[in-house]
Amino acid sequence: MSDVLLEIENLHVTFASPHGPIRAVDGLSLRAERGATLGVVGESGSGKSVTFLAAMRLLDPATATVSGRIRLDGVDLLTLPSREMQTVRGPRIGMIFQDPLAALHPLLRVGDQISETLRAHGDISRRDASDRAVAALRRVGIPSPDERARQYPHELSGGMRQRVMIAMALVLEPELLIADEPTTALDTTVEAQILALIDDLRTRIGLGVVLISHSLATVSQVADTVAVMYAGRAIERGPCSDVFGQPQHPYTWGLLDSLPAVDGGHESLTPIPGAPPSLADLPPGCRFGPRCGYRMPACGERVPDLVERHAGHADACILPMDGREGLRRAPIAHPANSEPAP
Ligand SMILES: Nc1ncnc2c1ncn2[C@@H]1O[C@H](COP(=O)(O)OP(=O)(O)OP(=O)(O)O)[C@@H](O)[C@H]1O
Ligand SMILES: [Mg+2]
Repeated sequence: MSDVLLEIENLHVTFASPHGPIRAVDGLSLRAERGATLGVVGESGSGKSVTFLAAMRLLDPATATVSGRIRLDGVDLLTLPSREMQTVRGPRIGMIFQDPLAALHPLLRVGDQISETLRAHGDISRRDASDRAVAALRRVGIPSPDERARQYPHELSGGMRQRVMIAMALVLEPELLIADEPTTALDTTVEAQILALIDDLRTRIGLGVVLISHSLATVSQVADTVAVMYAGRAIERGPCSDVFGQPQHPYTWGLLDSLPAVDGGHESLTPIPGAPPSLADLPPGCRFGPRCGYRMPACGERVPDLVERHAGHADACILPMDGREGLRRAPIAHPANSEPAP
């Protein structure tokens, strides 16, 4: 049974720039379910953060044009009046922003920042809000939460600040948590603790989670489903075990082949040649085409649709389905490698 909480359909986000429109998100569709974790992966600049800032309606309308549908429990957030959006942002969707220092006010004590969030969304006394803030800090595993609540962000370690961000995102008990790189720059022990904390909330209160991460290893450990983004589109998506177990898109193959060996061995890593395209000057057809070792002439003709092959596992590639696994081991040529050096 599917229990879709957030459904993004044909999302486009374009930024105005002096060099022409930047198509940061370009026909993206994906969904997150209640009580499950959707992992979103892809290289830097693939549109991961912009997608979910659009869902929170936090992009500046003066520079960003957003179209498509982003439904929370069936209600399109993109057409919701701004006033109603305030009852979504925080109470229904909590977000851990990619840069916790930028998201925390440097001159306010962390406890007060959480209390303010509570007071902005409900009729609650200063005293009760302060008690709930301390309880929220305790829930995310912060030792001596009374003392920590009185500290300023710069007095906390990176791991503690991440926990404060999680506490703040969850204090209003949202249905959906969007965690944008919540563990970047943390050591692996703290990373594991934070992921376990989010996962515990998922199972205990049925929280839906979107986990945005550069790390395929992290996503493969905690996500139920995964979307692989490239140049503003999902190029593969499906159950985590399928996408990592039987990846179908040459870009996903490239991402997986560029991972260091899990056992720390010295197998040679194969980085994906070339770089993602300029979003102001996208190549015709498949966006990954110029870097793809399996490119065929037809790849340049049109942008391939995301096609479901079986049981929720979809990819946007026109390679014949038969024998893809064999192809993976035998790329035709890496065009970006064979280009003459500039
Ligand atoms: N306000 C803005 N104005 C213009 N371009 C923007 C703006 N915000 C984002 N972009 C561009 O949109 C593209 C997607 O950005 P986004 O932040 O979503 O990438 P990302 O996948 O989250 O990358 P990272 O992994 O580095 O966080 C980038 O090319 C970025 O430069
Ligand atoms: Mg980002």
